[in-house]
Amino acid sequence: MQKIAQGLKRRNKTIGFVPTMGALHEGHLSLIRQANKENDIIVVSIFVNPIQFGPREDFSCYPRPLKEDRALCLKQKVDLLFYPTANQMYKMGFKTYVEVKDLSNVLCGVKRKGHFRGVATVVCKLFNIVQPDSAYFGQKDAQQAIIIQRMVKDLNIPIRIRLMPTVRQRNGLALSSRNLYLDKQERQDALCLSEALKRAKNLIKSGERNCQIIIKKLRELIESKKTARLEYVSIVDLENLKPMKKIKDKCLIALAVCIGKTRLIDNMVVKPD
Ligand code: PAF
Repeated sequence: MQKIAQGLKRRNKTIGFVPTMGALHEGHLSLIRQANKENDIIVVSIFVNPIQFGPREDFSCYPRPLKEDRALCLKQKVDLLFYPTANQMYKMGFKTYVEVKDLSNVLCGVKRKGHFRGVATVVCKLFNIVQPDSAYFGQKDAQQAIIIQRMVKDLNIPIRIRLMPTVRQRNGLALSSRNLYLDKQERQDALCLSEALKRAKNLIKSGERNCQIIIKKLRELIESKKTARLEYVSIVDLENLKPMKKIKDKCLIALAVCIGKTRLIDNMVVKPD
């Protein structure tokens, strides 16, 4: 892959890169379409990265429909599909990790210890291998995107990070490969994530600025659902992810909720005026 990328660069081709863990859905496809508009060559990677999963997480049962993913990539005119094995990515003796401090141990990082270290490390490796001009990420994983933007700045990685809007079902549910785990009742209850965000937006629109009050109302809404267990709901500064007391400027409202055994996340950027 790296040799091919170097060859493409010598021929002055621009490379757009969409890193994924597969089980592609409309969210991924929207990234691929955007990459297609802005680059000569499109590379998609599919790699279920073992070092970003905790010991009790879903690494072994994470969906891996490679055949279907490959067909979707062909349909979207993806030029190169890069799907390394874990042994190829992490050869014996692997010892180097990328850690983006402070941003990695808040929000999702509180419960998912080491998760963002795994993400930053694999994304850094993929960037070195694929050598893209631009890389495309979804707003749904807002914390991941903020961490990658920080890493790219801090390590002088010459890649433009493009952040694209969350793709949702008509009923508001944010698309995620993990939605595949949900049964009928859980699919219904999972709507509480986007409903909570909508509620927050309306509260802010009607003048509420106190984060504690907003968070309390969202907590109540989520806890009223049978299969839902709130992990966190936070209102944070967009740059440093520090919790806010009063909403004064643009902020990120982020939440993680377990629906049955499935952990889902969602978020929204809100501007008070
Ligand atoms: O968002 C994902 O699918 C993964 O975290 C990523 C960026 C492909 C790294 O494994």
